[in-house]
Amino acid sequence: MSATALSIVVPTFREAGNLEALARRIERTMRAAGLEWELIVVDDDSRDGIEQVVAELSDDMPVRLEVRIAPRRDLSLSVVRGMELAHHDVVVVMDADLSHPPEAIPELLASLSEGKPMVVGSRYLPGSSLDEEWGADRLLQSRLATILTKPLVSCADPMSGFFAADLRQLPVLSELRPIGFKIGLELMVRGELDVVEVPIFFKDRSVGQSKMNARQQINYLRHLWRLYLFRFGRPGRMVSFVMVGSSGLLVDIAVFWGIRWAGVDHRVARLISFWIAASWNWWLNRNLTFEERPKRRPGWQWVKFVGGSLVGFGANFGSYLALTGMLDLFQRNQTFALICGVALGTAANYAMATLFVFPRAGRRRKNP
Ligand code: GDD
Ligand code: MN
Repeated sequence: MSATALSIVVPTFREAGNLEALARRIERTMRAAGLEWELIVVDDDSRDGIEQVVAELSDDMPVRLEVRIAPRRDLSLSVVRGMELAHHDVVVVMDADLSHPPEAIPELLASLSEGKPMVVGSRYLPGSSLDEEWGADRLLQSRLATILTKPLVSCADPMSGFFAADLRQLPVLSELRPIGFKIGLELMVRGELDVVEVPIFFKDRSVGQSKMNARQQINYLRHLWRLYLFRFGRPGRMVSFVMVGSSGLLVDIAVFWGIRWAGVDHRVARLISFWIAASWNWWLNRNLTFEERPKRRPGWQWVKFVGGSLVGFGANFGSYLALTGMLDLFQRNQTFALICGVALGTAANYAMATLFVFPRAGRRRKNP
């Protein structure tokens, strides 16, 4: 049986000029389909007169406005807020700028009624179409961004901002950690949702401006990284740790040879390059490998990481001294000795990092 009532969530930032046309088209579609509905507009404090627009619309339509006052505006967090306020179990999320056709909502709901948790209005299916106004660069960016999601989801258009979902089948909203524009992707990945797609015509906005910009693109990469860490868990963190360690190794070698070049004894050079490389590793692991762990005070954490690395350094430097001291081969190829030491130290370092330096939330909490 198809849903009979739905909450439509529309995030807005400076869209006062688009809202009335959107609401009218929604109303017409809902009336024709015989659906009970509400429209929840979640505005990021645009101060563009949207209050008056909604006040007027709400005279004859079920439209509500939630104004978010947050330190940083965010599309995804606005959508989550709207979902929290929804009165119905079925929600539809769409843009305010008329890019997403309200007329397609009944079709999204029909697919949802087959028990699916989420139905996406897709721009990249046979039968989809994209407004020609959408330039080649924007299209290329969108395709590239989509390719990066392939290991995470099987969905032709996971970046779509137009979807219907059954709230009862979504992950707990308070546990979501989206940044920026891709709330649909967040839900699919964290909820491990089996999504269906329906082709739509995506029209470029005619009023106002897109809020997509370089900052949003960086946000996208940060968000994507979080989702990769979520999806691949410990193996993902280990790969990241080794990648960070490898970059640290390059730093280590570069600094080592830089100092050697200045005529410093190789043992002293080795000591100095270690500290620099360890700090490099700490910073990247803090912001990449263990990004989702609670952020602790950087100073103390650095002390723990670099200090902890000293244990790894025992194995690292110790094996370096042993190898160069005992084997002629390594005496002649000091870089090889350096690499062997680093490999030995890495395993110990990972264990310490994941347990003590970047612990999970709650691990070391005192009695509540
Ligand atoms: N509350 C809130 N806060 N709303 C926002 C914000 C924000 O910071 N930024 C944008 N919005 C609203 C806009 O007002 C609009 O209703 C909707 O989110 C989409 O914003 P646009 O600025 O029109 O984005 P777009 O057209 O570039 O991106 C759309 O298409 C992308 C696909 O390429 C969105 O649907 C994206 O989610 C989608 O990935
Ligand atoms: Mn748009």
